[in-house]
Amino acid sequence: MKLIYERSQAGRRAGRLPHYDLPKPELPEHLRRAAPPRLPELAEPELVRHFTALSDRNFGIDTGLYPLGSCTMKHNPRVNERVVALPGFRDLHPYQEDEGAQGALELMWNLQEILAEVAGLPAVSLQPAAGSQGELTGLMLMRAYFEDRGEGDRRDTIITADTAHGTNPASVTMAGFKLEKVETDARGNLDLADLRAKVSERTAGLMLTNPSTLGLFDEGIVEVARIFHDAGALLYYDGANLNAVCGISRPGDMGFDIVHYNLHKTFSQPHGGGGPGGGPVAVRDIVEPFLPSPTVVRDGDGFRLDHDRPKSIGRVRGFGGPFGVFVRSYAFIRAYGPGLKEMSETAVLNANYLLAQLKDTYELPYERHCMHEFVLSARSLKRDHGITALDVAKRLMDFDIHPPTVYFPLVVPEALMIEPTETEPKERLDEFVEVMQRIAREAAESPEVVKEAPHHRPVRRLDEVRAAKNPVVKYGFEEVTTPA
Ligand SMILES: Cc1ncc(COP(=O)(O)O)c(C=O)c1O
Repeated sequence: MKLIYERSQAGRRAGRLPHYDLPKPELPEHLRRAAPPRLPELAEPELVRHFTALSDRNFGIDTGLYPLGSCTMKHNPRVNERVVALPGFRDLHPYQEDEGAQGALELMWNLQEILAEVAGLPAVSLQPAAGSQGELTGLMLMRAYFEDRGEGDRRDTIITADTAHGTNPASVTMAGFKLEKVETDARGNLDLADLRAKVSERTAGLMLTNPSTLGLFDEGIVEVARIFHDAGALLYYDGANLNAVCGISRPGDMGFDIVHYNLHKTFSQPHGGGGPGGGPVAVRDIVEPFLPSPTVVRDGDGFRLDHDRPKSIGRVRGFGGPFGVFVRSYAFIRAYGPGLKEMSETAVLNANYLLAQLKDTYELPYERHCMHEFVLSARSLKRDHGITALDVAKRLMDFDIHPPTVYFPLVVPEALMIEPTETEPKERLDEFVEVMQRIAREAAESPEVVKEAPHHRPVRRLDEVRAAKNPVVKYGFEEVTTPA
């Protein structure tokens, strides 16, 4: 496919700017361009064709099944886009004074209240813009909490699971803590003996996803919480997998003190490719004084931003947070109402349906019911036929199915992490099962078909290391003399 610069023809235009009848502003000589910018020049039909062709090459939840484990790629109800585009929301200026933004503040306050109920914790900050920023905020809150108690110097270590998402150890390091990993036991729970040996008076807290990235609910969570609380440490809940438990169990009741939500997963949102996201945090009352400032508070019949928070860790993001994400999440939650529980139950049912259909074809490392996702291993395909998890993932693309998450969590060799979500109907799940079984048969009968996949996508196998290390993100004008 040609790049837009290669389609460019000098003098073509897709639109005309209105006539400009103001005096030309005087620009100092040193700020003036020497030559006009090199922009692509196309008429509207060619421009539309270009972007339509580009969009055709993309894959999204609107194109087909997207079982990308841990990412919760669910359908985004279109009505949410209408709601977020209402002029009162869309045109609101971030510097609007509180009196002129009562509707927006009320929405944010209501969202805080609902999120607090979902987590089972009393106070919420909407500021963080993603799960990973929620993690960093949560760890900064832990630091502030221990500093306030005079334990700041001593409590320097955070414990994570060996199944933790990569952002967990990264956040620990960014927040200036030392990292310690605890092992997973044979049932897929945290290994309590290993945990007991690692928790000490230096431990500031635990970071845990529950259900874990194996899609398993930790059966020892009450004991885990006791171990940390007895040592004076706090528990942080990575809420990336909250889609499994809404209305069923609450992190606060499990013993967690700080929780982040991934609004863009659990409560829908056209995310992927870097945004937009929302990662609010909820906290227990003992951590509340340190929440980012300002928070949205109710004041009589109205709402306002509260900046008077002397112990706050300060701002973690500009203005109130990713407001469009709040509107979509709020619309999503209100549309479900008490049915949020059904959302989680259906997500869990869909995942268990797939697991039951596939566990005889692919290896199941932990013989248990799963939550909203599960991890299979392609280890036997690799051993018997030389077909890896990556090969299976690439072959799925030939059937218009987005690959699951692969090679994660690290404790499962040749991992395929599958999350169908609640928005997939049974016939789509059955199609997925059929394709996965077909790929396993192909691995035995014609492995080269799987090894060389994808066959029907715009690009075949990429040199992924080169693409990551040497990304070409700029058009090389110098190398191209005659645009075609
Ligand atoms: C388990 C887990 N934790 C944390 C994150 C980070 O969330 P975000 O991508 O919103 O920064 C993810 C993202 O996929 C995740 O799966």
